[in-house]
Amino acid sequence: MAEQTAMEKLVSLCKRRGIIFPSSEIYGGLSSAWDYGPLGVELKNRIRDLWWKGMTRLRDDIVGLDAAIMMHPRVWEASGHVENFTDPLVDCKSCKHRFREDQIPEESRTAGRCPDCGGELTETRRFNLMFKTHMGPVENDGAAVYLRPETAQGIYVNFRNVRQSSRVKIPFGIAQVGKAFRNEITTKNFIFRTCEFEQMEMQYFIRPEEDEKWFAYWLDERQAYYRKLGIRPEKLRLHRHGPDELAHYAKVAYDIEYEFPFGWSELEGVHNRTDYDLRRHGEYSQKDLSYLDESTGERFIPYVIETSAGLTRTVLTALADAYDEEEVEGEKRTVLHLHPEIAPITVGVFPLVKKDGLAELAGEIERELRDEFSTFYDQGGAIGRRYRRQDEIGTPYGVTIDYQTKDDGTVTLRLRDSMKQIRVARRRLAEAIRDETKNYGRE
Ligand code: GAP
Repeated sequence: MAEQTAMEKLVSLCKRRGIIFPSSEIYGGLSSAWDYGPLGVELKNRIRDLWWKGMTRLRDDIVGLDAAIMMHPRVWEASGHVENFTDPLVDCKSCKHRFREDQIPEESRTAGRCPDCGGELTETRRFNLMFKTHMGPVENDGAAVYLRPETAQGIYVNFRNVRQSSRVKIPFGIAQVGKAFRNEITTKNFIFRTCEFEQMEMQYFIRPEEDEKWFAYWLDERQAYYRKLGIRPEKLRLHRHGPDELAHYAKVAYDIEYEFPFGWSELEGVHNRTDYDLRRHGEYSQKDLSYLDESTGERFIPYVIETSAGLTRTVLTALADAYDEEEVEGEKRTVLHLHPEIAPITVGVFPLVKKDGLAELAGEIERELRDEFSTFYDQGGAIGRRYRRQDEIGTPYGVTIDYQTKDDGTVTLRLRDSMKQIRVARRRLAEAIRDETKNYGRE
């Protein structure tokens, strides 16, 4: 059998351990749609919560929002998405395969030939990426709505509401996490590019003349976030968009890229969107979206620095970065070196054996930890196998209850990465886990 690629191994681990499943699998699956299983939803929520906490709760200058996915259709005319949010598309006249023109290998593109079968390619067409649907029972254009292709627009159209209700003063930001939809022509690489995905976006409203300062600030902040997630810094880099890459709204844009198993690709975009969106919404809605600086009496349309991260893409990054295979005592160990703050399960609790009251004692200790940590109790099989099962899903701590626990009230705390075992008093266990997490650094 051919050796599995790194991505194949990751996809298979995710399915086997309940992290990510193919969507509607019992019907043969739906290409490029994925479901998050019991462990996947924990991982995704933790990544989201760290972002949310860092963006809103730990700061004075950013507030949260949760806008509807479906918005007034004029939003997308004003934002420029109806006109500009397109990909160049070509079809093969023979095999009917469809490609994004900019993703075809150079030699096939210049020859106008299909990279799959060598057939003739059609002329390039512009293809709008927005999903269009109809609200209400009548399918006519009057009732057409779009599924949002970015969460950002929900923030712009609520700029006035948030300002008036929260009394925020420039510079300030509005943060939002939510689903976005794009009718991508090529979806591949697992959850990297899908038609339905989640974004974590923040729009930071500033004085126009301060755009460079705030852009540099947010570019640094966003890279720090990935380091906090435990992503290895050498796997991250920046890519500045050239003039032909810039989105229709952007004056300056940088991608934070990660080196995925399939190569360097975008993880997050940091954009200087100028006053483009607020100005356009002001024009299209005929509402005043300017800002009055009460200290100077000056009125202006704020500029926006946007930080736009893919939540689902960050899940893939965390998994790909954490995946490792090691040889331990002549056996293969598969391990996810997930940062303890995002691991789906923080502590596995194991009685050495089921008998002599150890199972009951372990159950008691597990319940003590539940309130603060996500825990998992396992009494089945050899202890080594139980550790391996947790290593594979990235559980950073294992707690083993043995006969000594009954005598002196201590337990063994096992660390996933180093496999080091330390003896800790039961009453100091939570504190020890907290300390290890605070000082966590991948070796
Ligand atoms: N509001 C700006 C915006 O949406 P973008 O560069 O088009 O900018 C931002 O998207 C981020 O959203 C990307 O860096 C990526 O992480 C995520 N993203 C975009 N399209 C995606 C897709 N089809 N599947 C998964 N994630 C996607």
